[in-house]
Amino acid sequence: MQLKYNEQILKVTESEIRKFNDYAKENNAEYYLTLGEPDFYTPDQIVNKTIEALNNHKTKYGPTPGNLSLRKKICEFEKKFNKLNYNPNEVLITQGSTEAITSALFTILNPNDEVIIPIPAYPMYAEIVKYQKANVINIDTSNNNFQITKEMLDNAINEKTKCIILTSPNNPTGSILSDESLENVYNAVKDKPIFIICDDVYNQIVYKDKKPGFVKYQDLKDRIIVCQSYSKSYAMPGWRCGYMLASEEFVFHAKKIHQYMIVALNTFIQDGMEVAFDIDNQYMIDSYKMRRDYIYDRLVKMGLDVVLPDGAFYIFPSIKKLNISSLEFCKRLVRDYKVAIIPGYCFSNDNFIRISYCVSMDIIKIACDRIEEFVNKLRNENNKQFLS
Ligand SMILES: Cc1ncc(COP(=O)(O)O)c(C=O)c1O
Repeated sequence: MQLKYNEQILKVTESEIRKFNDYAKENNAEYYLTLGEPDFYTPDQIVNKTIEALNNHKTKYGPTPGNLSLRKKICEFEKKFNKLNYNPNEVLITQGSTEAITSALFTILNPNDEVIIPIPAYPMYAEIVKYQKANVINIDTSNNNFQITKEMLDNAINEKTKCIILTSPNNPTGSILSDESLENVYNAVKDKPIFIICDDVYNQIVYKDKKPGFVKYQDLKDRIIVCQSYSKSYAMPGWRCGYMLASEEFVFHAKKIHQYMIVALNTFIQDGMEVAFDIDNQYMIDSYKMRRDYIYDRLVKMGLDVVLPDGAFYIFPSIKKLNISSLEFCKRLVRDYKVAIIPGYCFSNDNFIRISYCVSMDIIKIACDRIEEFVNKLRNENNKQFLS
């Protein structure tokens, strides 16, 4: 007897990032610059408030959209941080931004819809789009400093376009979409029924002026969906805390997916989330910036083409000149130098490698030394091949 699974789920693939991380473990890598996981502890205030909530037996089911006091706190924070006016009915507390992104896509997609994803991109989007029988239209920004032009959008948008996903600061590049890129997107969509999903999970981790991304176009509020996370900004990826900001109508529909998938976020954790916005996390950002400066400098000295990241904790140098695929580069780096980083093909750009620098300076220094040694070896191999 043949069991029949949902046709689409059979097409969805597991995270290639995790797969490569497993490969590195199987091959005994010693230094991991692979996952996007802050190396700080979750601040004590958040931990203590959560323990207090547990001691006070806050273990009953919470309201589906999240505790009202937390949603109010989020609105206050968004007003202060991004000058945005959202009311608590426009907030859905989700299990990390992953749930916010997935339920946003479930809320809007029909079969054969098209979703525009600027690449390099975080790989989860394409898998969820696929699950919905919709189609991904990639626009490649890698030859334009990871910025979006009018031409790219003109070539991609048509009557099937349902949504564009913007990630700024970006994973894997660390780039922030410029005012010009944002304006290009705005002009391309303003007169069309296209949703914009803003994956803004890194928008507190920026190394220049903090300012709102696409969400600043509040005249399009009914079709902007902001997906937010506590994982990166407050060093709490294992807590699974995030939220969605969208119109009341959108949240009403997305909440149905949320209700049938998780009911509501863990009640006691929401008390911890409430105190996060009172914490000054600048010490984390200063530390990431120091690491970014070091690693950028080293990569430039190695002669690799690399765009200076303005946010997040990733850097995405090109290896195009080295005449090797990103997978082969990363596999050899693991096997011969015991350093693990992520091949660019995982983000749909094979000419690049992603290095996560949310690890200690000691590890970053060792990794840079070994990457440099490997890059020099590859250059020698290429020269020999050229001469023979
Ligand atoms: C761009 C981006 N979006 C979303 C996520 C998911 O984060 P979480 O579900 O922990 O909020 C990540 C995690 O690495 C990410 O890099």
